[in-house]
Amino acid sequence: MSKQFDVIVIGGGPGGYIAAIRAAQLGKNVACVDEWKNAKGGPAPGGTCTNVGCIPSKALLQSSEHFEQASHHFADHGITVKGLSMDAAKMVARKDAVVKQNNDGILYLFKKNKVSFFHGRASFVKAVDGGYEIKVAGAAEETLVGQQIIVATGSNARALPGAAFDETMVLSNEGALALTDVPKKLGLIGSGVIGLEMGSVWRRLGSEVTILEGLPDFLGAVDQQIAKEAHKAFVKQGLRIELGVKVGDIKVGKKGVSVAWTNAKGEAQTLDVDKLIVSIGRVPNTTGLNAEAVGLKLDERGAIVVDGDCKTNLPGVWAVGDVVRGPMLAHKAEEEGVAVAERIAGQHGHVNFNTVPWVIYTSPEIAWVGRTEQQLKSDGVAYKAGTFPFLANGRARALGDTTGMVKMLADATTDEILGVHIVGPMASELIAECVLAMEFRASSEDIARVCHAHPSLSESTKEAALAVDKRTLNF
Ligand code: NAI
Repeated sequence: MSKQFDVIVIGGGPGGYIAAIRAAQLGKNVACVDEWKNAKGGPAPGGTCTNVGCIPSKALLQSSEHFEQASHHFADHGITVKGLSMDAAKMVARKDAVVKQNNDGILYLFKKNKVSFFHGRASFVKAVDGGYEIKVAGAAEETLVGQQIIVATGSNARALPGAAFDETMVLSNEGALALTDVPKKLGLIGSGVIGLEMGSVWRRLGSEVTILEGLPDFLGAVDQQIAKEAHKAFVKQGLRIELGVKVGDIKVGKKGVSVAWTNAKGEAQTLDVDKLIVSIGRVPNTTGLNAEAVGLKLDERGAIVVDGDCKTNLPGVWAVGDVVRGPMLAHKAEEEGVAVAERIAGQHGHVNFNTVPWVIYTSPEIAWVGRTEQQLKSDGVAYKAGTFPFLANGRARALGDTTGMVKMLADATTDEILGVHIVGPMASELIAECVLAMEFRASSEDIARVCHAHPSLSESTKEAALAVDKRTLNF
C-alpha cells in the first residue's frame, strides 16, 4: 500500500528541506526523501551544503584562519605563542562534528514541522491519478504517491576529462574537505569559489599551493577592481595563481599527480603535486531520478528545464536549486524552495534573482550583490561609483585587518543602487545591508543618511555611499 502525500520533496539539501518545512507550515502533508549517508550509514540530510560544501568548508576556513592568526599576526597584538602546532586530523574531526550538528538539526526540524522523512534514493515510477508514484530505495523499499513533487537533487563536481575523481589523489570538494594530512604541494585546477576557499585553507596549514586557471582574468565575474585587490592579497599570502593556462595530460601516480600545462605565453610547464583538487564547476544531478519514466524534460547540460516559477514541463512537478538554471548557491535554492511551497499553497511566492548575494569566504572575504562596473558598461547604463577603503575605517584598524574596500555603484540619474562590491573583513556580513537596500530599491543617498554604529565596519558602507556623491567624511 503506497503512502499518500500532498507534497513529496526529493532531496534534503537547502532547496529541498526548506521547501518541505515551508510546505508543512502551510498545512500540507509533506514527505522529504534524501539518500545522503553519514559515516555510520545513517541519514545525513542537508545535501552538499551541509555535508561537503558551505558548512564544512567554513569550519575548516575558521580553524585554519585561527592557525594563521596565531602563526603570523598574534605578535602584532603583543601575544607570543611558543610551540604552536596544528593537528589536521583533529581539525577535520571538529568539522565532522559541526556537520553532524547540522544534520541532526534538520532531522529535528522535520519532526517539529511534521515532515515525514525517508532515507533512500527516490525515483519516479509513473504518473498516477492525481499525482506521481515515487519509489524510495533505502534500507526498506517504500512506495509513495504525491500530488505535487519538488525535485531538489542538487549538483555534483565536474570532473576534468582524463582525471576522474578518486578522492585520494584527485579530489573534488568532498576529498578536499576530508584530508587529514597537510599535503606538502597542493595543486588546484580552477580559481573559482572552491579553488580559492580550499586553496586558502591548505595554504594556511602549510601547503605550497598552485592554482591553474583557464581564463585570462582573475574572478572574471567579479567586479574587476575588487578582483584585482583580492588577487594582490592572495598572491601576497603566498598563493601561486596562474591565469590563462591550458591544462594538458594529468598523470596520477601512487605518490603524486603530475599536471602538464601551458602558461599564458604558450610555454609548456609541468606541475608536480602531492594532491590535486579539481574545482572547475558543478553539474546538475539527476542520477537515478528516472526522469524519463515520466517525461521530465532536461536541457543539454542535464539541468531540469523550469520556467521563472520553477515549474517543469510536467503538471505538479517543480524543481529548485542547483538542478535548475541560475547560480549554484544554497541561499538561491532556499528562496526557490520557499517560493515553490507557497505557490503550491496558492500564494504568490517570489524570488528576486537581481538581489542574490555572492560570497567567497577567503581572507579577505569577497561579497557582492547586483551588477559589476563592467556589466553596467556593457549594458550602457550611466552610473556613479563610490569607494571607501577599510584602511580609513577605525574598527578595521583596531581589528588589524585593513585590506580592501567597499564599492557602491548607483544610477547616474536616479541614484538607485545598482551594485555593491566588497573585498575585506566580514564582507559576508556587510553585504546583507546592501542586499536589503537593493531589495527596497534604495538610493545611495538613503544609505548615506542612515545612522551606522561607530566604530563598525559598516561605516565603510555608509562612506562608500557618501563617496558616490563625492563627500566622504573620513577619507
Ligand atoms: P566556479 O564556477 O566558481 O569556478 C570554476 C573555475 O574553473 C572558473 O574560474 C573556470 O574558469 C575554471 N575552469 C573551468 N574549466 C577549466 C579548465 N579546464 N582548466 C582550468 N580552469 C578551468 O566553480 P567551483 O569553484 O568548482 O564551484 C562550484 C559551485 O559551487 C559554484 O557554482 C559556486 O557557486 C558554488 N560554491 C559556492 C560557495 C560560496 O557560496 N561561498 C563555496 C563553494 C562553492
